Amino acid sequence: MALRGKADVWLARPWQCLQGTRALGTTAALAPNTPQPFEAIPQYSRNRWLKMIQILREQGQENLHLEMHQAFQELGPIFRYSIGRTQIVSLMLPEDAEKVFQADSTQPCRMTLEPWVAHREHRGLGRGLFLLNGPEWHFNRLRLNPNVLSPKAVQKFVPMVDMVARDFLEALKKKVFQNARGSLTMDAQQSLFNYSMEASNFVIFGERLGLLGHDLSPGSLKFIHALHSMFKTTTQLMFLPRSLTRWTSTQVWKEHFEAWDVISEYANRCIRKVHQELRLGNPQTYSGIVAELIAQGALSLDAIRANSIELTAGSVDTTAFPLVMTLFELARNPDVQQAIRQESLAAEASIAANPQRAMTDLPLLRAALKETLRLYPVGGFLERLLSSDLVLHNYHVPAGVLKSFQVETLRQEDVQMVYRFILMPSSSPLLTFRPVS
Ligand code: HEM
Repeated sequence: MALRGKADVWLARPWQCLQGTRALGTTAALAPNTPQPFEAIPQYSRNRWLKMIQILREQGQENLHLEMHQAFQELGPIFRYSIGRTQIVSLMLPEDAEKVFQADSTQPCRMTLEPWVAHREHRGLGRGLFLLNGPEWHFNRLRLNPNVLSPKAVQKFVPMVDMVARDFLEALKKKVFQNARGSLTMDAQQSLFNYSMEASNFVIFGERLGLLGHDLSPGSLKFIHALHSMFKTTTQLMFLPRSLTRWTSTQVWKEHFEAWDVISEYANRCIRKVHQELRLGNPQTYSGIVAELIAQGALSLDAIRANSIELTAGSVDTTAFPLVMTLFELARNPDVQQAIRQESLAAEASIAANPQRAMTDLPLLRAALKETLRLYPVGGFLERLLSSDLVLHNYHVPAGVLKSFQVETLRQEDVQMVYRFILMPSSSPLLTFRPVS
């Protein structure tokens, strides 16, 4: 039996207003000492066919997080349900997630993201970290860690992020001063998306896309459009079996594949350029993750391409939406904003001299970002196929499975979140940027 354990961390404030629900953790019956069988785990039942029709009609499952939250409130901190023949156990408490991680092997196993895998298989392309499991995942991960996650790597690419951040602020400042009212009111979502895209592209491929200026090149526009379209179609396809959507959603599959083709071709072009430049000479300066990977020769060009695509896909929305929500929370909590401004003014000189100091010298800003991620967890859940049996809640779970701006808003009410592959605001709060005198 395939079984996966999902550890969910859905505790954000905007969802706590669910009506008629009981307090978390109060509903599970007192568990006797001997572990109860898997079948005794409370079951979340829903009509599978009705659900599929609803997903098709609504083109996704935007309220997935609310539905799961409600299920936790009604059934307690552990429940099970099935998708086809796969049994899924959902967990929400950190201590349960810890147990799952402790039982995890060095090669954790996750469900595959079918629409993405279908594209790779159909086009004969390799998979990157996100889509790999087992020894292949381990192999890739060990080679990527030193160039992506290690403090040494971060130290190397922070100045690139810093450069893009400064350009972003300059562009924003220009727009503020062009405005006769001396302030700029905007839906910041698209600008922050462009910022994170620009920063991630620079760090990964060592190339600027030019997204912060006015005149976007047709190539950059096509790439951004493809990323948007890939995410949109992912949520339309990921909850339903391929055997169904190949009949019901042919147009969506076409759009999904075309979007991936554009992204993949873009990555190919970048990698060819980096490869050629490295062969023609050995640059002395750091020029991004892909250049390092090619220079080291630790992964094949195919694997570098696959991973660079997934790093691109993984980095944009996950950065943009927490930034939108942090700005929104700072706008409606002006005292915290003021304290963070004081902190950054005090750290300004040391960070200007050494951008890496941004990681250590801004503890309050760091805490604000962490708190935003707690309130609005962009990655709504984690999943694992267990490699060994586990006892959870006494149930037996078998194996197999801008420094010079202040930001303001009139909006005081919470922003509703929707699940579209990641958790994002259903509408972007209107923010006003005003220079601080
Ligand atoms: C707030 C920011 C982010 C959040 C909350 C987030 C969340 C997650 C989560 C929950 C996973 C699954 C981990 C697991 O299964 O154990 C994941 C995996 C991944 N993320 Fe992110 N992510 C963020 C930012 C990024 C960025 C900036 C990048 C790229 C530069 C990225 C690239 C990836 C990749 C490649 C994987 C697959 C890793 C693997 O399987 O080894 N993510 N992320």
